[in-house]
Amino acid sequence: MIYSGQAVIDYLASEVTKEDPGESSHWRKFHSTFRFKGDGFEGLQGFGGCAKPYRGLRYMGHRFLQRRYRLIGSEFPEFDKIDKLGEEITTCEGRAYDLDVLRQVLTLSFLSYCLPNALSMQATGCVIGDGFASMTSLLLASRSAGRVVLINLTKTLLVDLYYIKLWMGAAAFESRVDLVTDEGGLQRALALSIDIDTGGGRVVAIQASHHELLKECPVDFAFNIVSMQEMDLPVVMAYFDDLRAVAVKREVFFYCCNREEKVLPDGTRTCFSEYPWHEDDKILVDELCPWHQFYYVLRPPFYRPYDGLIRHRLVTLHKVGLNEEKLKQ
Ligand SMILES: C[S@@+](CC[C@H](N)C(=O)[O-])C[C@H]1O[C@@H](n2cnc3c(N)ncnc32)[C@H](O)[C@@H]1O
Repeated sequence: MIYSGQAVIDYLASEVTKEDPGESSHWRKFHSTFRFKGDGFEGLQGFGGCAKPYRGLRYMGHRFLQRRYRLIGSEFPEFDKIDKLGEEITTCEGRAYDLDVLRQVLTLSFLSYCLPNALSMQATGCVIGDGFASMTSLLLASRSAGRVVLINLTKTLLVDLYYIKLWMGAAAFESRVDLVTDEGGLQRALALSIDIDTGGGRVVAIQASHHELLKECPVDFAFNIVSMQEMDLPVVMAYFDDLRAVAVKREVFFYCCNREEKVLPDGTRTCFSEYPWHEDDKILVDELCPWHQFYYVLRPPFYRPYDGLIRHRLVTLHKVGLNEEKLKQ
């Protein structure tokens, strides 16, 4: 099935009360008070802020404390351009340009620097676990992808798409955003043409419960930013399987930025080093992510470390065929 434009929002709104198999105990807890009211949400927790735009002294305080991050960004040639897009997108959406958005701006500027040829209007990107669709919107606005496959839990996906609509406007949302629930729908969505010269790119949304559709998407690069750290390991493994199935057919860059270790509310421990990396994945970057080590608040001590170390790794995924896996067993 394929839904387009407002029908995507209506369909997801009808799905939010259903159980979501990809939800860890962390997300069952954070989504417990979630409610969609038609013209907004209640109980949004755990995937970024959506405060009203900062004004006056508050604005000045945030801009001042964000200087430390912008200094890191100044090392990347595309940063100023992408920073402006972050400002424009959040203004259209009526929300503050906060650290959650600035983190995405830094990440995209960094990846544009690392992968100058891979990020273009000809490319299909995939964002697993976005927040307010910040990364998806930046990818499209900066023309770093002509198509973005956006995968999230149903409730958060609804929020992502609601904010994409605020940013691109109702008319563009009708013609450029689809949600697919099966293979037939996916093939129809992928057949829709992208106007590389004048168009603003397309979104193909997929609920996490249908994640295996990713195997059939012509993905050139995939990003996961502080999201796998809150998934149960079998769910993480399934996403790696999906991406490796794509890597058998084409080169896939995977950027993964997550806590080295995290304990979820039910005691499950998630561990970056235990993700199913392959010894033949070609590692392009592997270090603690400089802009994901500390956050700021408007009172002393203004900068505070996150609860644990956050590592980012950029790889070209090794093509592991099913046969290779079977031979190992
Ligand atoms: C902490 S938020 C991070 C949001 C954003 N990437 C950022 O950097 O701020 C984690 C995101 O992962 C999503 N998520 C959790 N479980 C998921 C799953 N099984 N599949 C896809 N996304 C999932 C959540 O809905 C949320 O959007």
